[in-house]
Amino acid sequence: MVETIQWTDAGVVMIDQRRLPREQIFVTCKSYKEVAEAIRNMTIRGAPAIGVAAAMGVALGAMEGADFETVCKTLAATRPTAVNLFWAIERMRRVHTASNGDLALLIEEAKRVRWEDIAICESIGRNGASLVPDGKTVLTHCNAGALATAGYGTALGVIRAAVSAGKKIDVLADETRPFLQGARLTAWELQHDGIPVKLITDNMAGYFLHSGRVGCVVVGADRIAANGDVANKIGTYSVAVLAKENGVPFYVAAPISTLDLNIASGAQIPIERRADSEVTHVFGVPVAPENIEVENPAFDVTPARYVTAIITERGIARAPYADSLRSL
Ligand code: MRU
Repeated sequence: MVETIQWTDAGVVMIDQRRLPREQIFVTCKSYKEVAEAIRNMTIRGAPAIGVAAAMGVALGAMEGADFETVCKTLAATRPTAVNLFWAIERMRRVHTASNGDLALLIEEAKRVRWEDIAICESIGRNGASLVPDGKTVLTHCNAGALATAGYGTALGVIRAAVSAGKKIDVLADETRPFLQGARLTAWELQHDGIPVKLITDNMAGYFLHSGRVGCVVVGADRIAANGDVANKIGTYSVAVLAKENGVPFYVAAPISTLDLNIASGAQIPIERRADSEVTHVFGVPVAPENIEVENPAFDVTPARYVTAIITERGIARAPYADSLRSL
């Protein structure tokens, strides 16, 4: 699988996810400001991958001799919803404080955030594989795969582990308007791995969930509140409601670093608003009248009552989530 993000002598190298699947272009960020811009403009995206990028951005800032608090503030201001961003910055801050800003230790920690994330995704996969029904279809939304993490993926990690365990499954990937992470990234990743995948438009999900063909839904998360409410890519909530209505289990796969137990419910999760042009244009081509007003929330919150289970590297949480998440 292609590397999502790496620390190299030349800088932080990431595959440009805006160009996939048509071009595989790697960009090298040589400063913390370039890392911040890469997170903001979605060169790199997906909650765990954003966390890894932020950790590496902090290390780059230290190498540049920039003011530590300015570096942290700049990176924290990029995208508001994925809590992994703030988790990674706090982790780097702890090392900075404990080591009095030791550069080698900061770089080491940033690299550790990356390789730990791969191991965490593999554990999530192992823990979730048994939940995937054999011989059925798995529906997923957005991209919670290797590209959204340091490697292997969360939701796609569960799918990969189920396939490795010998289960005969196939995948329906929602295209995920407006940024098309499903069409561009999930479809590409699974095709690359030889996992049977069919691409559908978002408005087909209800049709397939009603058909009896889908054995479960597995998605990732950007932030999970203490009560089990889940923020994830816009459209996830609609899929969750349709899954419940049709008796299809709805699973969320996420690392512990995506839990935000400081907030009681999803109502407190900040929802990022992105540019109108993501809605009015497709690949630069206008599809709406000029000057049309637009709404573009990038995430929605799925209330915990629609979530059958939350799969983490430490085990599987079920309702009541206030207890099960805290004990994990
Ligand atoms: O806007 P994005 O592409 O960063 O949104 C990504 C998602 O919503 C993912 O499902 C989530 O971050 C989990 S990634 C393992």
